[in-house]
Amino acid sequence: MNDSKEDELLCQKFAQQWRVIPVIHPMDYLFQFVIHLPLYQSNREQAIAYYFSDGFASAENLRLILEGICGIRNRACTLLEFASGYGCVTRHLQNVLPAVKVTSCDIHPEAITFLQNEFGVDAMQSHAVPEQVSTDKRFDVVFALSFFSHMPKTTFSRWLKTLSSLVVPGGFLVFTTHGLTSKRLHIKNTEFDKDGFFFLSSSEQKDINPSEYGCAVVQPLFVLHAAKQVGELSLTYFREAHWWGHQDLYVFQKTASPDTGVNHLAAAKNLKTGFFSKLSYWSRKLHMQK
Ligand SMILES: C[S@@+](CC[C@H](N)C(=O)[O-])C[C@H]1O[C@@H](n2cnc3c(N)ncnc32)[C@H](O)[C@@H]1O
Repeated sequence: MNDSKEDELLCQKFAQQWRVIPVIHPMDYLFQFVIHLPLYQSNREQAIAYYFSDGFASAENLRLILEGICGIRNRACTLLEFASGYGCVTRHLQNVLPAVKVTSCDIHPEAITFLQNEFGVDAMQSHAVPEQVSTDKRFDVVFALSFFSHMPKTTFSRWLKTLSSLVVPGGFLVFTTHGLTSKRLHIKNTEFDKDGFFFLSSSEQKDINPSEYGCAVVQPLFVLHAAKQVGELSLTYFREAHWWGHQDLYVFQKTASPDTGVNHLAAAKNLKTGFFSKLSYWSRKLHMQK
């Protein structure tokens, strides 16, 4: 049996297990990244099992955040899954969050068509330039998993502003970054600049200009300063190394007016003391860079 036939059968097996659609797009770089990890070199079955179980774990993680932090439980709401890729997480959202109306968004036009056709979600095209993302829609929650982890300093704050503009007042912006634990475990020998930012022009997305999408590592203070510049974001929750055991999680609430946000520098002091790390139900620790 050739590799692609074997992969197809394995995808069907694990998709059945998770009750999701088995189809993988040939340009799904995340899938390629996982199956070529040295960890899985001699075991394709484990790699494919991981792709499906990790997508489920992220969807479940999001559900816990919506319920426990955003106070959205079993009620209809709209969610923008920004930088969704080819649906590693999207395929699980309908099972895990049935009341949530999902719109997915990515830079790859092929991903948009794939998400619409295979998963039946609304999907919208993104743009390499943050200010050129164009939609009239606003969402209760904007979720960007492992997107800021790849943005250069030139667009990081601008993306924060753009994504914040897509949130309804009172809604939430949920995202992850590579932080200090990512640096310690996976992205060693990096030097932060004076603002607490590091960027390397290299990534798993082979068709995106590496100066626009690489590997970014940021200190929490950098994120808080960027959020302060946006002016309408109030930090609701921060947890270091929350996702995959290394990416930092940020949950910001969009305030009704720019003046009602928390004092981010005070929040920064609390970050150091772990004040915001108040929930402890996270059990998964997957030591993998994504
Ligand atoms: C590391 S992947 C994360 C995918 C997905 N969020 C997950 O965790 O499974 C980063 C994604 O960002 C997307 N991306 C890169 N630049 C983008 C942009 N300007 N707008 C939207 N998506 C972008 C890539 O195509 C890729 O799918």
